[in-house]
Amino acid sequence: MAAVDSFYLLYREIARSCNCYMEALALVGAWYTARKSITIICDFYSLIRLHFIPRLVSRADLIKQYGRWAVVSGATDGIGKAYAEELASRGLNIVLISQNEEKLHKLSKTLAETYKVETEIIVADFSNGRGIYLLIREALQDRDIGILVNNVGVFYPYPQYFTQVSEEKLWDIIDVNIAAASLMVHIVLPGMVARRKGAIVNISSGSCCKPTPQMTAYSASKAYLDHFSRALQYEYASKGIFVQSLIPFSVATNVKACRSFLHGCSWLVPSPKVYAHHAIATLGISKRTTGYWFHSIQFLFAQYMPEWLWAWGANIINNSLRHEALSHRL
Ligand SMILES: NC(=O)c1ccc[n+]([C@@H]2O[C@H](COP(=O)([O-])OP(=O)(O)OC[C@H]3O[C@@H](n4cnc5c(N)ncnc54)[C@H](OP(=O)(O)O)[C@@H]3O)[C@@H](O)[C@H]2O)c1
Repeated sequence: MAAVDSFYLLYREIARSCNCYMEALALVGAWYTARKSITIICDFYSLIRLHFIPRLVSRADLIKQYGRWAVVSGATDGIGKAYAEELASRGLNIVLISQNEEKLHKLSKTLAETYKVETEIIVADFSNGRGIYLLIREALQDRDIGILVNNVGVFYPYPQYFTQVSEEKLWDIIDVNIAAASLMVHIVLPGMVARRKGAIVNISSGSCCKPTPQMTAYSASKAYLDHFSRALQYEYASKGIFVQSLIPFSVATNVKACRSFLHGCSWLVPSPKVYAHHAIATLGISKRTTGYWFHSIQFLFAQYMPEWLWAWGANIINNSLRHEALSHRL
């Protein structure tokens, strides 16, 4: 009984002397919760400000803002083609760059006839490395390029462990995903700076948010584009140039390797046309965006997710995508 009494007294003494520490801890907890809540509210506010409010006001005049010509790389399919169509629908003349001459001619004719704009094509295979840029530089030298969309990109045939990726594919990822955007900016940026206006859109990927297993080289190449864009924006914003890091999640293009269970739902995985329409509305407004409202919700979750959880989830999804791709090949 004495032991119980003394334990009770001891407990009361400790509780009394710890009272101020408890209050301090409660204050820290309240401050942390308030900070997190304010951040989440601000994130949701910017999501609405970016993706819904611009749609209520009239469309920006891109020609006046940036110039008459736009260049789109990887323009014959998917997001690049949709970007070219959306820009042409706003009256911009378009330079289309891709590797397939026939597809380029067809798209160029369609854009010119449908939107009454001027078009030009450059046939170039970005996986050929350094040799092609002289040709592109010469083709663009007399054009006042207002908007550059660095869209071209390659992925693995399906998610793979790093050592399973062929050496050739690794070079393609370096040449097409990293070198192409860097060199294209090097070609058009001096003209933009001289005119003190222009916009550069570098298309990265949601997989750049965190290290993504089984997409190692691809996600790292997209992280390069994200950092490259953000640093460029710091360097050139004061010279009138707007640089946007565009970070799409799933878009319903031909990249079958990325197909997931979400692909059945069109508002979760928009068509390239819908995606480009939304993404272009963010040009001049957001320096770093996913370009589409549902992707921005995914991005917010990714931001708050610990890296190990992201990697664990990516491994599970990519394992199933790999098995599915391999079973279709059999
Ligand atoms: N789709 C998605 O879910 C998704 C998600 C995140 C990020 N992205 C990024 O968005 C960009 C576009 O993706 P997408 O899905 O629209 O791709 P896509 O449908 O495969 O289209 C790729 C375009 O690039 C061209 N191209 C490919 N390799 C080329 C090369 N070596 N030289 C010149 N042109 C080449 C293709 O021309 P050909 O038709 O002649 O091959 C095609 O016009 C990529 O950078 C991709 O990483 C896509």
